[in-house]
Amino acid sequence: MSTFTIDSATSRATPSPVPGKRMTVPALRARKASGKTADPIVMLTAYTMRMAQLLDPHCDLLLVGDSLGQVIYGLPSTVPVTLEMMCAHGAAVVRGSWHALVAVDMPFGSYEATPEQAFISASRVMKESGCAAVKLEGGEAMAPTIAFLSARGIPVIGHVGLTPQAVNTLGGYGARGKSDAEAKKILADAVAVAKAGAFCIVVEGVMEEIATKVTRAVDCPVIGIGASDQCDGQVLVTEDMLGLFERTPRFVKRYADLASEIGEAAATYAAEVRSRSFPTADQTYRPKDSAASGPAGKPSAS
Ligand code: KIV
Repeated sequence: MSTFTIDSATSRATPSPVPGKRMTVPALRARKASGKTADPIVMLTAYTMRMAQLLDPHCDLLLVGDSLGQVIYGLPSTVPVTLEMMCAHGAAVVRGSWHALVAVDMPFGSYEATPEQAFISASRVMKESGCAAVKLEGGEAMAPTIAFLSARGIPVIGHVGLTPQAVNTLGGYGARGKSDAEAKKILADAVAVAKAGAFCIVVEGVMEEIATKVTRAVDCPVIGIGASDQCDGQVLVTEDMLGLFERTPRFVKRYADLASEIGEAAATYAAEVRSRSFPTADQTYRPKDSAASGPAGKPSAS
């Protein structure tokens, strides 16, 4: 059952308040021409309608990442994230955006078994959320699945290097590619994913040299996270860059300190409730003709 609304009077294909204006997969793919991306691709994660509204004007791509497992649900990793979560949050982000291309992460266990399993899961995500693309983790082993999906109308973003869904195999979230063998494997993974038809690739947590090689080796745009400035674009988890968490990975730059601001706002609210200085007449419903004006003679809210 679909959870987003299509404006059938204007566009059946693009559920957007401004039909026809949303970034498309071919347009995004074309940003890298002759091995170069003149205009770096801007991508952020979003999981809710309001955050999507705020980020959308500034982004080429909004990613409904399975990082929502930790960020929204307080889970220990992305492993327990479900298709239902991804569909619901994907639909919210599509509803809150009109400009950026929305891509939704395929959660662990929903695509790895066979290309057919991946198609059933990915088509469900697209139908229920209205997103234009999916992202899945994995390199050479996932290439046949990426080819299968791409040939059947499902645009795919690859994800190589540090792949958080494999945390139990990798043993942690440290940067990848420190050994020669690992570096070669990441490059081979990226090349395989690109050849299979991924229209762009996220490269996470790798040494700068690997990011450089990967970006040069593939025709499609490479979007880095913890992968240096050598990539064709960058992505961050929005809550990290907004400073909502005390601890963030080294590669994150904090562009705001919202944790402090929210803490201060909550503390002020709590103090005002306890001292009965909130609500005031301004926030109180009273009959219009009563002596219901605030201390400064302002009429009360009606
Ligand atoms: O789940 C996620 O947010 C991601 C980004 C970190 C790329 O995959």
